[in-house]
Amino acid sequence: MKKFTAVQDVANVDALVQEALYLKSNPFKYKHFGENKTLGLIFLNPSLRTRLSTQKAAINLGMNVIVMNLDKEGWALETQEGAIMNGSTVEHIKEAAAVMGEYCDIIGIRSFPKLQNREEDYSEELLQQFIDFSKTPIVSLESATRHPLQSLADMLTITENVPAGKKPKVVLSWAPHIKPIPQCVANSFAEWMGQADVELVITHPEGYELAEEFTKGATITTNQQEALEGADFVYVKNWSSYTQYGQVLTAGEGWMLTEEKLQATNSAKVMHCLPVRRNVELSDEILDGPNSLVLAQANNRTYAAQAVLKRMLEAL
Ligand code: CP
Repeated sequence: MKKFTAVQDVANVDALVQEALYLKSNPFKYKHFGENKTLGLIFLNPSLRTRLSTQKAAINLGMNVIVMNLDKEGWALETQEGAIMNGSTVEHIKEAAAVMGEYCDIIGIRSFPKLQNREEDYSEELLQQFIDFSKTPIVSLESATRHPLQSLADMLTITENVPAGKKPKVVLSWAPHIKPIPQCVANSFAEWMGQADVELVITHPEGYELAEEFTKGATITTNQQEALEGADFVYVKNWSSYTQYGQVLTAGEGWMLTEEKLQATNSAKVMHCLPVRRNVELSDEILDGPNSLVLAQANNRTYAAQAVLKRMLEAL
């Protein structure tokens, strides 16, 4: 595997899920696999889970890990081709990414969208520049439009918890938030579920339709209660509007998932990628209750990352 930026980069999703589950049972089986290989983790935005789980995954494979908070510790980056750099930017991405590629065998990069200009964000320019200029395998640690390591971990979590012999009903349910949030997790989850043997329903208030390229095959409704009926999994997530790009269109009153709403489901397991704003996105009673899978998802981030890194090491 040369890059992991979207589900389309995975030739056989089921095989990757099975490999990650195998690594979860045998985390140190390949502890010399990455010996003398270096993983560089580059963050332009905050992270708890992605940062720690990807480091742990690399350590389980015997890799060395370098972490850099590029937004705070690096030179201000220029990304425009042909720029006359007489302003605030100090280093061009052409050199910065190429230099990192000299130091690292695999690079992970996190770069959120700015939510100002949809075309710019959805072009994934920075991610593509890292792919082009670093000349190393690239793992997305969450880009402007997708969060594939999270989605792979979510797929592991569903696989582990699916009722035996059942094609599960999975509901992606929009939740309130206090500020504009990217569409990445929702886009990515919908896209990965599109590759799984599940019935996917997406529910959100009017104006929060995701880009069609991510929601193929899903049923989409603005009626949350109807969506929840008979659900086996409810994935709760906020996202800002795609159509009125980056805007918060409603306070979302009544959209927070509660125990009362869960009564309509098939005792659904509840998922969230974290971090979560308690009693805004999800109620305490659900997060602290027996149906919550949020910690299982976070734990599976390690084995999702380990499976991806192992595939990349194999291809070096
Ligand atoms: N879910 C997730 O990506 O968490 P972090 O932002 O803390 O890495």
